[in-house]
Amino acid sequence: MKKLTSLQLREKYLQFFESKGHSIIASSSLIPENDPSVLFTTAGMHPLVPYLLGESHPNGKRLCDVQKCIRTGDIDEIGDATHCTFFEMLGNWSLGDYFKEDSIKFSFEFLTKSLEIPIDKIAVTVFEGDSDAPRDDFSAGVWASLGIDKNNIFFLAKEHNWWNSGETGPCGGDTEIFIITDKKCDKPDCSPACDCGKYVEIWNNVFMEYNKKADGKYEKLSQQNVDTGMGLERTICMLNGVSSVYETDFFSGAIELVCKLSGKEYLSDEETTKSMRIIADHIRTATFILGDDKGVTPSNMDQGYVLRRLIRRAVRYARVIGMEACGILEVSKCFIAKYSDIYSELAKNADKIIVELQKEIDRFSKTVENGLKEIEKVLKYVQNNMLNGKTAFRLYDTFGFPLEMTVEICKEKGVEVDVDGYHKSFAEHQLKSQKGAEQKFKGGLADSGDATINLHTATHLLNAALKKVLGDDNIMQRGSNITAERLRFDFNFDRPLTADEKTSIESMINGIIAEKIDIECEEITVEQAKEKGAIGVFESKYGQLVKVFTIGSYSKEICGGPHAKNTADLGVFKIQKEQSSSSGVRRIKGILIKSN
Ligand code: ALA
Repeated sequence: MKKLTSLQLREKYLQFFESKGHSIIASSSLIPENDPSVLFTTAGMHPLVPYLLGESHPNGKRLCDVQKCIRTGDIDEIGDATHCTFFEMLGNWSLGDYFKEDSIKFSFEFLTKSLEIPIDKIAVTVFEGDSDAPRDDFSAGVWASLGIDKNNIFFLAKEHNWWNSGETGPCGGDTEIFIITDKKCDKPDCSPACDCGKYVEIWNNVFMEYNKKADGKYEKLSQQNVDTGMGLERTICMLNGVSSVYETDFFSGAIELVCKLSGKEYLSDEETTKSMRIIADHIRTATFILGDDKGVTPSNMDQGYVLRRLIRRAVRYARVIGMEACGILEVSKCFIAKYSDIYSELAKNADKIIVELQKEIDRFSKTVENGLKEIEKVLKYVQNNMLNGKTAFRLYDTFGFPLEMTVEICKEKGVEVDVDGYHKSFAEHQLKSQKGAEQKFKGGLADSGDATINLHTATHLLNAALKKVLGDDNIMQRGSNITAERLRFDFNFDRPLTADEKTSIESMINGIIAEKIDIECEEITVEQAKEKGAIGVFESKYGQLVKVFTIGSYSKEICGGPHAKNTADLGVFKIQKEQSSSSGVRRIKGILIKSN
């Protein structure tokens, strides 16, 4: 296998797919644009949903990129060898162009020729079929024809070999690629589905030919797509033969720094190792969230809440290894330096990252102070030297006081904590908020239904009307979330809108709707878009083509679409609510009422 640095693998991958006719596109923001189905971009395909559903992409039918991703579902597994909350995904796509055979052949060539991975170290899985879609003998046949041993080709069920982009949207069976490590497993039915660590997944090729509907049914898409994702960190780890992603160049600087700041040695014992990995992982993720051009700040909601948890968890583990909380700032600076060449937004937003981290560390120390007082009170009433789970959960939920600290302090007083009871209360609470989140994130542009598309166009009009009516060109979109029922638009502004202003905004938008203007779309380079005065996020690479949507003389925005054909399709626009979203940011909820 070829020993590579992360930079080298990135370059090799992009060059390889460019040589196979793919256009290189830029990483999108970590905060999804108009995709209400996820809090963060969790895969390279998320920004591409409209194109997987059939919209034409300005850069063609073959694309590749390196996408910043965040997955916090497995936050409790952080600290093991292969999980990270932030990672970079190397992705290549066919939008209705090549399908299974070429996709598998490209992957095989890249792995065995460019990365020099021996064939006998590669195992693959394919979809075993069910009532929704047939068994994928075709892909298994292609792998076998390339020389993969039949014993290393596994057929697995939907839970392993099917990729859904969200509750609804494009999806399909996949073929996953694993490196066979030296780990031994004595289970007779050991396969890549086994969690023994013998097989490490590095790449997933999804054959997206279905669209999952809200009723749970699958319908065939108008085109057959390929969506792939290779984990940069994991692949580097495998190529270099190190035992965890934390021993790769992504983390080495930060881990060394944590050792220095804590006076402890990495890998000296389990607790220290785990703590150092958690600090490094969480602070890297927090740095990327804060440093994103659409970055959020810590709060009790949505992305801000995840960010808060990451920072506080890191502070807590810093305490475990005797590192001062302010050391966190140094760790963040180390990541800013490491990644700024590739993600220039980190350098640009460096001051903000550090200021916000500092603020959150201070807030957390206040929380801890208050929590300590509350614990003192609670301990007075403890019975049988056991603190019940509900109370431990309340300390966490109301005071932000982490379970580990409750356990630690109770232990000093000879009191045990009902940890199982805590987890039960936690699970009940999670179920409730999950249901809330599902409601909240239901529907959206992932559906590409007419109602959603019309609201998306209304969002552009709202963006234009706000600037005009409030007389402020610095007003910018700070977030957008669209479901089939309503739009939600966040923008920077530091006071509530007056009733007159709201009426003027509605009138202006309804005036444009009444003009029955065709919405025009052109595909030009990002520089041309800038010259033409388009607004939007200019995160694309130099020379990359982008779509610009123009609505008469009123609005010109860089955007992926899709949009209504004519403003007359929209009906009547109404502001339902205008409120504060966070400091300096207002939020408008708006609806479209059908006029006929
Ligand atoms: N979207 C696929 C994944 O994330 C490639 O695994």
